[in-house]
Amino acid sequence: MKILVIGGGGREHAVAKSLMKNVAVEKIWVAPGNGGTAAFCENVDVAATDLKGILNFCLEHNPDFVVVTPDDPLALGMVDLLEENGFPCFGPTRAAAQLEWSKGFAKQFMEKYNIPTAKCVLCKDAKEAKAYAKECPIPIVLKADGLAQGKGVVIAMTREEAVAAQAQLSYGKNDQAILFEEMLVGPEVSVLCFTDGKTIVPMPAAQDHKRAYDGDKGPNTGGMGAYSPVSVYTKEMAERCMEEIYLPTIRGMEAEGTPFKGVLYFSLMLTQDGPKVIEYNSRFGDPETQVVLPLLNSDLFDIMVAVRNGKLDRARVKFSDACSACVVLASGGYPSAYEKGKPITGLEEAENHGTIYHAGTKRLDDGSYVTSGGRVLCVSSTGRSLRQALRKSYKGIEAIKFEGAFYRKDIGSKDASLSKED
Ligand code: AMP
Ligand code: GLY
Repeated sequence: MKILVIGGGGREHAVAKSLMKNVAVEKIWVAPGNGGTAAFCENVDVAATDLKGILNFCLEHNPDFVVVTPDDPLALGMVDLLEENGFPCFGPTRAAAQLEWSKGFAKQFMEKYNIPTAKCVLCKDAKEAKAYAKECPIPIVLKADGLAQGKGVVIAMTREEAVAAQAQLSYGKNDQAILFEEMLVGPEVSVLCFTDGKTIVPMPAAQDHKRAYDGDKGPNTGGMGAYSPVSVYTKEMAERCMEEIYLPTIRGMEAEGTPFKGVLYFSLMLTQDGPKVIEYNSRFGDPETQVVLPLLNSDLFDIMVAVRNGKLDRARVKFSDACSACVVLASGGYPSAYEKGKPITGLEEAENHGTIYHAGTKRLDDGSYVTSGGRVLCVSSTGRSLRQALRKSYKGIEAIKFEGAFYRKDIGSKDASLSKED
């Protein structure tokens, strides 16, 4: 079996590593990959969004299976294109991925199928949004419609902030649709689920840490660390989410004629009125994947093939009941401007404490690594308790050095399980 994985972050490193455990997998290409995947896969110098380039690569090299993980190629219809050309893929079609790439579609879908979410008003252009910003209830959450890489959300606590946020999110584009949403309050969890369009199997819940600095301060990032499972997401809560959110979502997508196959990631807020959807993502999360896949006790490749073939009900999908945590090490200045090309040391020592998933790294010919991105790598560890998993991940992170490196020191620190003894 030869597999092509599309993407180049820590998430793709974790997916490729998990796929490699299957003895039938002889080779994995990763396009474009990173320093970590270069060590055991073959990186392909084609961008994840280059549909034509990826198709040409497939026609030339004939992969048996293609895994499409990032949001933008999914939104561009990468899965549709490759499947039409005879290449079996893991990932949703462009129409199904709309749950992520159009917040407007997702909102209307949730309303139609009675799926709990924040109340909202959709303004179809800048003019309408500008007028509504002057009279909307406060506080309010503003979102730009379309893929925004986590940067398209502003929480406005005052009227002035709402007006300023509207101007910022419209980017001077008159046709930019803006959503105004009720502000929800409560703990946030990410639940990634395998689904073949009929059967849905949730993975253990994870919590991401999106802000750059400790105490949830600083700008939003792609995610600075995660842990799993999450105490507030109890068994009862999981059952409730299955009935009120997960099953209605996949049944609704089937009823729309656009069944969702792949990983559907529910970003949930557990409010006093029950769980509500903040947003859907049509893919694995990053860094959630780096904490959830290490807990998977079944074979990822078999699951992916079952999802593609509509046979998830017959697949074995089991997770360990251990705890998992990862901490991201980022380049100084991230998520704003940062320097690249800094030599990285201490990776061998860190391997004693956990698994290193690379993101923004480059492997040099002599086998050493330099930085090449904002989120450089993460160390992910498992343990009997969250405290133990965190301790190992932090030991790993402390061993790794490069100029300007920084990380959050409070990953997982709010979880209730930490108040108990190990
Ligand atoms: P998103 O890019 O949609 O994941 O949103 C980024 C962050 O904004 C989320 O992780 C939430 O913390 C916050 N957020 C989004 N929508 C709401 C909402 N309706 N109420 C409160 N917080 C929200
Ligand atoms: N962890 C956030 C995301 O993958 O979108």
